[in-house]
Amino acid sequence: MDIRIFPNHEAMTAAAADAVAGVITRKPDALICLAAGHTPVDLMKRLVVHAREGKFPKDRFRFISLDEWVGLGPKDSGSCIHDVGKYFLDDMGLERGARMFFFDGLAKDMQAQIDGAKAFLAAHGPIDVIVLGIGMNGHIGFNEVGSAFDSDVRVLPLDETSKTVGAKYFDTPRTLESGITIGMRQILEAKKAFLLASSAKKADIVRQALKDPPTERVPASVLQKHPAATAFLDAGAAAKLNG
Ligand code: GLP
Repeated sequence: MDIRIFPNHEAMTAAAADAVAGVITRKPDALICLAAGHTPVDLMKRLVVHAREGKFPKDRFRFISLDEWVGLGPKDSGSCIHDVGKYFLDDMGLERGARMFFFDGLAKDMQAQIDGAKAFLAAHGPIDVIVLGIGMNGHIGFNEVGSAFDSDVRVLPLDETSKTVGAKYFDTPRTLESGITIGMRQILEAKKAFLLASSAKKADIVRQALKDPPTERVPASVLQKHPAATAFLDAGAAAKLNG
């Protein structure tokens, strides 16, 4: 696994955005998958600027969302569908159309959401580049602690850590019980996987994910098994890699 360390979040984000833009430039109909959460927001904003400047074609790439809070929808600030729209698609003038798949956290039939994601991946996959954040417990997407390395797209209950930390995304208290996510299998099948982490508060879990032997107790450690994974870290997140 390639580990790239940058002096700060801004430099880390710039490099990761350039790498994503490069994938789309080489393959304009690439399938990309971006995590929501706070870490990739500046990457999305940078991609918008790149697209406006014509640095990569914006009209053909395909998109699939990484995960979603079950029970939240496009009007809920903090949901994946809302935040990817706000920071990425809307500012590029892109509609959520047939070349994009978003999990609908409000759907009554979650199995149909799982089937929809799988059908989209069967038609357009594998993912060309997947951009992941890392939860404080090591989750990627909503692949929580204990997720099998061959797990598929699915709904699963959220860890207490994810529920507690997740409150940071919402202005008002929310009931956060379960999530729907792209599975570890799809992450391993992605042609490129980028893990982004910023700030010293992630340093412990980043060390466990990148330096300790891979274990299902630390979901992000699956990336050590990925043939083309890159970790983009700021100095804070990388601080314990040699400890
Ligand atoms: C969230 C999401 C993940 C995200 C992670 C880290 O709960 N399920 O997709 O990558 O936690 O989020 P942040 O970047 O805000 O630390």
